[in-house]
Amino acid sequence: MVETLNTVILSDSPRGLRAGAGLLRRGELVAFPTETVYGLGADAGDDRAVAKIYAAKGRPRFNPLIAHVADAEAAERLAVFDEEARRLAAAFWPGPLTLVLPVREGARLSSLVTAGLPTVALRVPAHPLAHALLAEFGGAVAAPSANPSGRVSPTTREHVMEGLGGRIAAVFEGGACPVGVESTILGFGEGGPRLLRPGGVPAEAIAEILGRMPVPAGAGAIEAPGQLASHYAPAATLRLDAAGPTREEAWLGFGPVESLQPSLNLSPAGDLAEAAANLFAHLRALDAMAAAAGLSRIAVAPIPEQGIGVAINDRLRRAAAPRE
Ligand code: TXA
Ligand code: MG
Repeated sequence: MVETLNTVILSDSPRGLRAGAGLLRRGELVAFPTETVYGLGADAGDDRAVAKIYAAKGRPRFNPLIAHVADAEAAERLAVFDEEARRLAAAFWPGPLTLVLPVREGARLSSLVTAGLPTVALRVPAHPLAHALLAEFGGAVAAPSANPSGRVSPTTREHVMEGLGGRIAAVFEGGACPVGVESTILGFGEGGPRLLRPGGVPAEAIAEILGRMPVPAGAGAIEAPGQLASHYAPAATLRLDAAGPTREEAWLGFGPVESLQPSLNLSPAGDLAEAAANLFAHLRALDAMAAAAGLSRIAVAPIPEQGIGVAINDRLRRAAAPRE
């Protein structure tokens, strides 16, 4: 049983930031906005605090967490960077890129953050509130997306409260997340940089810095242990790449196709960045609209497989995958 807490809503005022950092120091869970999705934060050096993340989310313990830090210098104190990792950090931090690198000896990191792996996932978020909280706290904050494991990621404070209200000490009010899909995760193996999860930074942008495309992670072994097939699951089942809805389906559009069925449009203008920012909120809202109309399926328009569209399609495929 997770005890019921009175989840406090904090603002980005100096007082709110001091309160949030104070709760983190005392080993409590604090949710906060990043440019991608809301994160569920705990002091990354405190075993008991990090254990609370797994309990609050119902997250499997073999699935490691991302450590968030205020700047690249703080990241270098936790992990060993090679030349390519440094170039990527310089190009994309602060921003939606996560680098998986060897843990530096003596780093103050709970082994629950890395799930016992010799590597740690690191990211410097660009959201001003996330940055202010990390600077005020002064250490690394472990933060997965602030949703119950397997469900749709939160892009507003209200989404966080829906899923985790009463299970966490506090949540910051920071409005809607501007990017809307999680960070791109890169690992560094023998054969060079590997794309462990498509996300907010398109692979094409990474290729411009490195001079080659990152290798997609193998389909066999789960390299980013969290990349289970079924994830981001709404209640309704999804039918992807649909030309339009049947009478039994709600419709998630992209581009100018209209429908008489219950529907929402990711971007009527066909803009991929707008579609990414709307994705999770629209999935939640349309799920509720479908249920209210007695429909158990959502048809989804095709999304171009380029730029951030790759991350959108990845999340849609996981949302559509058969449940475990
Ligand atoms: O945008 C984001 O990345 C958000 C915000 C809150 O920063 N966070 C997020 O965390 O998406 P989460 O826990 O939902 O996803 C973290 C992913 C998981 O798939 C996990 O398996 C992978 O990162 N990961 C963490 N540490 C790893 C490691 N050492 N090696 C490989 N994969 C790792
Ligand atoms: Mg997640």
